[in-house]
This record gives sequence, structure tokens and C-alpha cells, in this order.
Amino acid sequence: MRDADPQPVRLTDYRPPDWLVDTVDLDVRLHPQATRVVARLGMRPNPLGRPGAPIVLDGDELELKSVALDGAPLAGAGYAATPSSLTILAPPQEPLVLTIETVLDPSANTKLMGLYCSSGTYCTQCEAEGFRRITYFPDRPDVLAVYTTRIEAEREEAPVLLGNGNKVESGDIEGTTRHFAVWHDPWPKPCYLFALVGGKLDRITEPFVTATGKEVELGIYVEPGKAARAGYAMDALKRSMRWDEEVFGCEYDLDVFNIVAVADFNMGAMENKGLNVFNDKYVLASPETATDADYANIEAIIAHEYFHNWTGNRITCRDWFQLCLKEGLTVFRDQEFSSDQRSRPVKRIADVRLLKSHQFAEDAGPLAHPVRPATYREINNFYTATVYEKGAEVVRMLKTLLGEEGFRAGMDLYFDRHDGQAATVEEFLTCFADANGADLSQFALWYAQSGTPQVEVNGHWDAAARSYRLDVRQTQVPTPGQPDKQPMLIPLALGLVGADGRDLPLVPDDGTNAAGSVLVVSRPEQSFVFRDVEARPVPSINRGFSAPVKLTTNLASEDLLFLARHDTDPFNRFEAGQTLALAHLVSASGLAPEKTLAGALAAGGTALVEALIEALGASLEDETLDPAFIAQVLSVPSEGDIAREIGSEVDPDAIHAARRSLRRALGEALRPGLERAYGRHAPDGAYSPDAVSAGRRALRNAALELMASTGEAADIARALAHFETADNMTDRFFALSVLAHHAPAERDAALDAFYQRFRDDPLVIDKWLALQAQIAEPETLERVRELTRHPAFSMGNPNRVRALIGNFAAANQTQFHRPDGAGHLFVADAVLELDRRNPQVAARLLGAFKSWRSLEPTRRGSAERALRRIADGPGLSPDVSDIVARSLG
Ligand code: ARG
Ligand code: ZN
Repeated sequence: MRDADPQPVRLTDYRPPDWLVDTVDLDVRLHPQATRVVARLGMRPNPLGRPGAPIVLDGDELELKSVALDGAPLAGAGYAATPSSLTILAPPQEPLVLTIETVLDPSANTKLMGLYCSSGTYCTQCEAEGFRRITYFPDRPDVLAVYTTRIEAEREEAPVLLGNGNKVESGDIEGTTRHFAVWHDPWPKPCYLFALVGGKLDRITEPFVTATGKEVELGIYVEPGKAARAGYAMDALKRSMRWDEEVFGCEYDLDVFNIVAVADFNMGAMENKGLNVFNDKYVLASPETATDADYANIEAIIAHEYFHNWTGNRITCRDWFQLCLKEGLTVFRDQEFSSDQRSRPVKRIADVRLLKSHQFAEDAGPLAHPVRPATYREINNFYTATVYEKGAEVVRMLKTLLGEEGFRAGMDLYFDRHDGQAATVEEFLTCFADANGADLSQFALWYAQSGTPQVEVNGHWDAAARSYRLDVRQTQVPTPGQPDKQPMLIPLALGLVGADGRDLPLVPDDGTNAAGSVLVVSRPEQSFVFRDVEARPVPSINRGFSAPVKLTTNLASEDLLFLARHDTDPFNRFEAGQTLALAHLVSASGLAPEKTLAGALAAGGTALVEALIEALGASLEDETLDPAFIAQVLSVPSEGDIAREIGSEVDPDAIHAARRSLRRALGEALRPGLERAYGRHAPDGAYSPDAVSAGRRALRNAALELMASTGEAADIARALAHFETADNMTDRFFALSVLAHHAPAERDAALDAFYQRFRDDPLVIDKWLALQAQIAEPETLERVRELTRHPAFSMGNPNRVRALIGNFAAANQTQFHRPDGAGHLFVADAVLELDRRNPQVAARLLGAFKSWRSLEPTRRGSAERALRRIADGPGLSPDVSDIVARSLG
């Protein structure tokens, strides 16, 4: 057990380890309740550490059996063991071998950290601090060792035994029912990348030949009977491996690469060296059970974990403050991969949507923290949208600023200089500075300052001077622990769009720093002037979302309507419509702030809404556009986006109503176009998960839903037919969700039919649970409560919990924030119950309260009561007590 209220860890307190570990020899005898681990650690004093220091090892819930130094048993006086550490009191200051024997209980491990059993399969999760639950060890990422792992188990119980690296030996243990395998990983690694797996698993395998001709055997292991559903993951893996060679020059470095899918997993997946362990949700797919979104996620996450082999594993992190060094960079890499495999603009739109809904929300509330935090109390709480998604945006900005070649030169230098090391963000940035002769000191603030920068851009055309001036002002709002901030370096990609819809050439006037089409903003206030501008253009600012900022402009609604029809930058074309829709939704929610676009719209009445609908209709009819892009254009901003735009005194019911009526208006006004799109994109063959087919389904389903949101009987009948005749999960589930949200009379029969069909398929049942949790009506809470007692639900499985309770809290704003407080109370009690079993999952669920301060007073009061109830709960985990303290702080 850990201390209930651990002291915060600070970045500035970093010291190199006193002792290093060069080799780890593990002998693991698997047993469901008493797994015995013997660890032989080849250690030596660190020349950079404190001379004469004792050896201090981390531990967590371990039973210590014996300790030996250089083969000789160490008496009790020679060491001190506490629940969280093992100290060798006066070790000789020279290379030595420390042998530690511990026993642990995988079946009782409900935290799913360390070694645990998932539906009968032994597996491990060590990041961030789980290895200390397997053996005593210096559990920090800057201690890199070469691991050899011997795994022994009952042959019946675990015919498959997997470890990191290459298998060097295996066999039966004579005269017993047991067998063993020995795995050796030649690449030094931190212990968080350790993994082992033992179980009854089916496998698919494929060969892969690397760029330099080395043969690799790829394997994906799944629960018996599910091998047919691993094919797409295998395909994505091969494409990822090839892409990383071509785009980053990164080649795989072992003889085998294995992936194991497990049913009980705290996060998405884990990049253990040569042995990735995945939440099965991100491996298993078939047309009947997985949606297009599931396929896209599988592709992205398979790539993400594979790309960690270089960004994370070959070069790891010096300490956990540097988490974004591997995560932000690897998310950037997986985003680029998906962009190359699919549609780049549509991928960008999806990524920015996610960034805004998760990261901007985090940055605007009490849990805001920098991409590289300076302090933490529980590191597991920093696997956040800020570290991952904003971290990726920061890398993307580096590329925007340095250009394609400059960026690649920096990456090459990084791989060259730091291979085999545990690096820092400073070292990463120095590679880009050195490779480009650039000064990145101001840019580095993106890692240190939290909060979303606000950028205001006002454009002025000077007819007499034939010039166009952009006045830019940046504001950094205060965030927890950061009252004052410095101005940042903000790359704003720009176009000046002429009346014919074409971009004008950008001719910077002397004395401005516009480099090509990117304005590099560095001061609190700054102006950029362009000459030879014959007629008033419409500026298209922050194209491709080049900087993760909140942008406001002096564009009139006519300008935004123009961009929504004509911008050659697909992202900004999409964004112009969203900005208008958001402004309308804010004012329709009854809370238009003065002097904003929303205010102007409210004053402008319905004419502008009609113009917006017309512009969206023009995109719908434009056959030159990608259907996937049109589907994005037609999807109105989320309730969370609207709430964030309103900022304070938020009433989720008003937002829900405003959004619903806009969708109904779209469905009514665009009906002919929607009907045509629905017909034009009817399936024309067997299901294929490729991006083009998925895009056609996305548009067809968007049309189905907009029409059904009118509530017309014919539209509901169409949705019902769509549901009943679907031959794939994308269409079937989309139709089910349309019925669930828009057809109360048809809903229960459809939900029941779906359940009966897929009752034996937990991943599909998750969709069924999630959908019911998202229905925006007062009966939902009782429905969710009942579903917690349904045989398909289990508090022990993180996927079930996230599907049902997680979606209720995070994706049902009206019911989670019920004015009577019952939604808050329900989630608070679920957090308390879960915390006793799995603190990480509990803490993540608690994150749903992150925007509570912006609610109107009644709901704010009930959220605060719920948070205080959690805070007063007995024996809280460090995970939950950290989040609740910061939420209330
Ligand atoms: N490194 C993993 C990934 O992003 C995430 C593991 C996080 N696990 C945890 N227990 N915090 O791919
Ligand atoms: Zn990652």
C-alpha cells in the first residue's frame, strides 16, 4: 500500500539514481494466487549518484521472501523492508548481484497494475509504476537494464508464454505438468516497458521484411475463437511498420513483434518492448461487430504503440515529467500515419474536434496543467488530453515553424543523439534548434504554460494604400498555479481569400515577419501588413488549426459564410461553418454575451441562421467534396463546445434544446439534399472498412439522423428499416442510436433486438450500454442504475464501467447535470465504490466533473456537494484524492 497522501513530486527535485541496474534476470513461476518471482539484479553504483548511498528499491503490495547479496543470504539487519520500499543498508560500493524473492497474488489484483489475471490470462501492465508490484526495483524510467525472463506455468493453464524480446529457450519441466519459456531482450529498457503474458490464446502470424531485409515474425494473440477478428489489426501493423521506415527512417529491431489482446485493461494499449498489450477493443474487429470508428481507432492505436518502439522505447523519458516527450510525439506520429492512410483534412477535423472537446475543456478548468507538468502527486492522473493531444499539437507547430525538411532534420538528430538514452524535453528541442540554427526558447513555453492562449485577429483593408493589415493580440489567461504568463510563439497559417474564392499572393510589407503563409506571432500585440491587395479580401486565419488557440476575429458573419463556401483550406472551410453554428447555438441557449458574434447573430434574427443552413446545404450538394468531409460539415458543435463557449452559468438543458432545434431545422430545410445523399451513398457491395467507403457511410448516416431529428414518421420508418437491413455494425448501430434518441416508441424493441443478437459479445454490448447511458431524458438515470445490475455489466471490467457510467457522466450533459443533483450523486457513489477496486478507473471517471465551476448555481452546488462527498470518503486512493482535491481547489 502507498501512503494515503503522498508528498508531491517536483520536476526541480530530479536527481540521477544512486544505483544503476545493468541486467535483470527474472524467474517467474505463475500461479493464480501465489506467483513466485526471483529477481537477480546486476547493479553498480552510479558515478553520477551520491557516493556511499544505500540501495533503495520501490515496492507495492509485495510479500518479501528473501534477499541475497552476491549469492549470500542477507540477514534481516542488512536490509529494511516497508510496504513501499526495500533498502539495502550498507552495500559494498561496487558491482554486485542482488537477488530478491517475492510472492504476489495475481487473482487479487483488481487494480490491473503489475501482474494480474484477465479472464484467465496472466498479463502485466507496468507503466507508469506497476513493475514495483512484481518485484522490488528502482521503478523510474532512467534506470535502463537488459532483461532475461524465465516464465514457468502449468501447461494446461498457460500453453502460451510470452515475454519481451526474442524467445531463446522453451520446454517441458520433466516429471511435472509444467513448462517454461525464456525470453531475452537485448535492448536496455526501463522497467515500465517490461511485460509478460501467459494463457490459452489463439494466434495469427505474418512475416514482415524490414527495409534492410531483416525478417520479423509478427504475432497477434487473442482469446480462443477470436483470431478471425485480428486481421485488420495485423494489416494496420504491417502498414505502420512500413510507414515508419519511409517517413521517419525507423526500422524494427527484434526478430519478433507480438501483440496480445486482453479483455480487462485500464487504458487503450501499452508499448512494452516487442510485446504490446492491448485492450481487446483496439484489436478485435469484424464488419458485424465493429464500426468504422472502431476500425479507425484500431489502426491509429496499433500504429501508436508500434511507433513507441522508437519514440518511447529506444529513446525513453528521464522522468515522468517528460511523459509528453514520448506521448505527444507519438500521437503526432500516429496522426500523421492516419492522415497518410486516409483523408488528411478529415483526420485533421476529427483530431481538432477531440482536442477541443477534451483538451480545451481540461485547460479551462481546475485540472489544467502544462504539457510538461512541474509537479504531481499521482502520475497516473497525467495520462491526459493535455499531455497527449496538446503535446502532439506542440510537435505539429514545430513542424509548421521549421518546415518539412527542418523538422525531419531535427528528428534525425534526435534519433542519432539520444538512441539508448532517457531524454528530456529540453534535449528534444535542442535537436531541432541545432539542426536548424533556430532559437526555440520562446517556443519552449508551450511545454511550461497551461491554459489555451486566446488570439484576437482584426483585419483592415486600406483601399488607398492597397494594403491589408492584421492586428494580432494574444492573451494568456491565468490557470491553477500560474497567475502570470509570458507571451508565446504562435504560428498562424494564413490565407487572404479574394472575391473569386482564390488565395491572393501574400506580399509582406517591409518590416513584418510573415514567413511564407505562416504568421509567427511572438509579442502580446503585433501587426502584419501585406501590400498589393487590390480589393478587400477575406482572411482565413489559423488554417489547418496551425496553433491550438482560441481564435476570435472581426470577421462578419457574411465573411464566415463566404469562407464556409469558398475557403481552399478544408479545415477552415469546415471551421467557418462551425463558428457560425456555435455563435447561433450560444445565442439560442439564451446567453449571448454582449459584443460577440453570438450577440450579433441574436440581433440579426433568423436571417443569418437561414444563410448558414444555405451554406451547409451548398456543401451537401457539392459533388466535388469528399463525403466524409461533408459529414463533418453537417455535424453541429457538441453540447460541450457550446458550454465552453458560454463559459459560465451554463444550463445544459438550454444547450441541449438549442442544439436539437438547429438539427431539426437542418433536417427540414435540407431534406431534398439529405434524401439525395442518402440514396446516392447506399451500399454498393460488401462492407469494407476503407476510408472512402467509411466516408460514404458517414454522410449517409448523418443524413439519416438529420432527417430523423424532425421526428417525421417516414424518417423514423427509414431509420427502422436501416437498422433492420444493415449488414454491418456501422449502419446497424448508427440506426439504433437514431432510434434511441429520436424514436421513443421504437426504441425499446430495437434495443432489445440488438441485445439478443449480440448478448455474447461484450465489446458490442458496450455500445448498447453506452447508447442507453446517453439518452437525454430523466428516465435515463434509473435505466443506468438498473443496467449496473444487468448480467452483462461488471464493475470489475474497465470497458463496461466506461461504457455505462463513463458515458453517462461524460456524454450526457443534461442527465449527469440533472438539476436535482441525482446524476452527480450517482457518479460520486460509483467513484467511491470503484476506488476500492481500481483507483485509476475511478479517478478517470471523476474527471467528468472537470467543468463543474462553469455550471449555473443550482447544478454547481450539487456538483460541489458530490465532490465533497467523495473527498470525505474513507481511505481514498492517491489517484482519487488527487483529482478531487484539485477539482475543489
Ligand atoms: N503508454 C501507453 C500509451 O499511451 C499508456 C499507458 C498508460 N498506463 C497507465 N497506467 N497510466 O500508449
Ligand atoms: Zn502512447
